[in-house]
Amino acid sequence: MKKYLFLFIASLFLTSAAFAADSQIWDAMRIQNILEYGQDESLKLGPLFTMLQANYFAQAFLAVLVGVPAVFLLHYLVIGPKVFSHDGKKVYTFSIFNRIVHQIAAISFMVLVPTGFIMIFGANFGGGDFVRMMKDLHGLATISFAIVVIPMFLMWIKDMFLHLDDIKWLMIVGGYLSKTKRPVPAGKFNAGQKTWYWLATLGGMIMILTGASMYFLDFNIAMINSLTGLSQIDLLRVAAILHAVVGLAVVALFFVHIYMSVFVIKGAIHSIITGYKEEEEVKYLHSSWYKKLKKDGKL
Ligand code: HEM
Repeated sequence: MKKYLFLFIASLFLTSAAFAADSQIWDAMRIQNILEYGQDESLKLGPLFTMLQANYFAQAFLAVLVGVPAVFLLHYLVIGPKVFSHDGKKVYTFSIFNRIVHQIAAISFMVLVPTGFIMIFGANFGGGDFVRMMKDLHGLATISFAIVVIPMFLMWIKDMFLHLDDIKWLMIVGGYLSKTKRPVPAGKFNAGQKTWYWLATLGGMIMILTGASMYFLDFNIAMINSLTGLSQIDLLRVAAILHAVVGLAVVALFFVHIYMSVFVIKGAIHSIITGYKEEEEVKYLHSSWYKKLKKDGKL
């Protein structure tokens, strides 16, 4: 398994290196391509983009980076984690396909998020080669995420539509504001998990498309220009604004996702490695699904 993972990563590096070597990114074409179009300012996004970029984006990312973990720390200290027995039956929840797809997404995000932050605060990291290397890693991790985002979207979609349970779950914030263990209304996935799913997959696709638009903008791609009707500089601004705004939401919920699956629900992380969840966890946190499994004789 390790050998295949190594081969996969090595081939990603080689493909990217070959592609970069052949690209027009690093030469004089870069500036020419951006300036070439005569439709500059067609969307009049220049002042908006400059204002957001200068005053809000980095500050908002800093607020997420510090604020979200601070709220979690408070929650952990005041309410604490949910601990379920690991001695009961195990409920098979995630197939091997689910787990591989999820693990590739998880590894990709563990690269995408820190490298993204380093780019935002590039000046504080001394700029130069180090930040450029982080930019390349960010691009490589985008490729591995892009490979799994559609399989992830398809493999879970049937369980992710809104249900009456979700409204009830939201009204009690999933029971996470209470120390006592009570059955929480939820199917196989609860309202919080469904929100993360939609943001991670649809938001993830927006991140890939806007990221790719910025990366490939250095090439003179007439097709994109005629398809969107935007000048390259406008496309760059739209992509950069969307990438930052959607990125803020994705990163904030990614932190929530890690907090929930690693810290709050003790041992939950095993489910995405082994495929099995603890019966007691299912009984309390996915009570509707638990009843259904019982009724169908699957437990
Ligand atoms: C270090 C990174 C990650 C860890 C530790 C992690 C952990 C987990 C765990 C333990 C579960 C099962 C939760 C449960 O049902 O009890 C899960 C589910 C899931 N993960 Fe992740 N995950 C990570 C990254 C990601 C990424 C990057 C994505 C998507 C881009 C993602 C999307 C999902 C989705 C959609 C589910 C199903 C819904 C949910 O349980 O939230 N995960 N993850």
